[in-house]
Amino acid sequence: MSASPEPINVTDYERLASELLADGPAGYFNGGAGDENTLRANAEAWSRVTLRPRVCVDVGDMSTAVTVLGEQLSMPILVAPTALQRMAHDDGEPAMAKAAQAAGTLMVCSTLASSSLAEIAAAAPGGRRWLQLYLCRDRSVSNALVDQAVEAGATAIVVTVDAPYAGLRERDPRSGFVVPDHIDMPGVTAALGRSAGLTVEEFFSMVDPTLTWAKLEAFIASAPLPVLVKGIQCGEDARLACDHGVSGIIVSNHGGRQLDNVAPTADVLGEVVEAVSGRVEVLVDGGIRRGSDVCGALALGASAVLVGRPALWGLTVGGAAGAERVLEILRRELEITLALLGVTSPTQLTRAHVAGA
Ligand code: FNR
Ligand code: LAC
Repeated sequence: MSASPEPINVTDYERLASELLADGPAGYFNGGAGDENTLRANAEAWSRVTLRPRVCVDVGDMSTAVTVLGEQLSMPILVAPTALQRMAHDDGEPAMAKAAQAAGTLMVCSTLASSSLAEIAAAAPGGRRWLQLYLCRDRSVSNALVDQAVEAGATAIVVTVDAPYAGLRERDPRSGFVVPDHIDMPGVTAALGRSAGLTVEEFFSMVDPTLTWAKLEAFIASAPLPVLVKGIQCGEDARLACDHGVSGIIVSNHGGRQLDNVAPTADVLGEVVEAVSGRVEVLVDGGIRRGSDVCGALALGASAVLVGRPALWGLTVGGAAGAERVLEILRRELEITLALLGVTSPTQLTRAHVAGA
């Protein structure tokens, strides 16, 4: 039997992508803050969530389809917002949008995208997308992005609240990483006059570090779309988010890129779900690499997960087709894992499907 050269899981894509990327982009995509303890812990923690299968259940007719904040999706796996996708592959965000659409899921487009929302929408007309928004020091920049998102058919806004400044990421200064000359981030250029040549710290300077719950509530009140908040890591903030009018919560530590030594998201999800007590949907990201990780997250009360780096690795390796393949691998793993757990739909997962509940 000869070994297959085809990547068959997310880790295969991680390895292939790392071989293709130069040090600067690879460090920016794959790296985390500080000693990268949380970066590693995110993935490890999902692998420690122990599943409890039930048997002798008819699993002849399976579906991974779900509804997330009113969106009917093929699976509870969304594409997380990640900056600078043209650095992964020349086809960038438009290719990611095609992949998400082909996989039947939704893409969250970053404020720091290397394509305009109009370009993304043109590549995948009818595709589902949300805008990830950094509230900028210059509010006219964020407001313009919101207008463009509405125009491009986005159906929700995800305000990221865990990054008033960039985390202390050490791979970037070591590699001398700056935004490559041939890449423009329209959102950053609108705020800072240019994006090429900027360091991570420099492009983060567009973000308003004075955001408070009161300011967020004012933004939500004037927003034309439902607003989710991304970067919640404890029950107290989850309750505050609900009190201030969010439509959804994303439990996230930014993939270990912001504050190091925080708990992996798998370990804080339960606390957040309990605090929210069904008031809004709770999503989670960070270290999801397997269909079994998705099942663990849903059993702990998430309505969906997001994947950041796995989608980027797929994009790096094979453009739209590569990103679609990664999403399809995860969907297929999810389907089989659900069946082996003794359920026919993600909606049937409960706390009883994980140990220690
Ligand atoms: C991110 N993330 C991110 N989040 C956000 O709200 N806006 C952004 O522009 C970015 N940009 C970004 C770039 C890169 C290269 C990465 C890896 C991540 C965080 C992202 O949305 C998500 O929270 C994490 O990526 C989830 O962790 P995994 O799936 O990468 O382990
Ligand atoms: C990052 C940003 C852009 O994590 O959110 O690099």
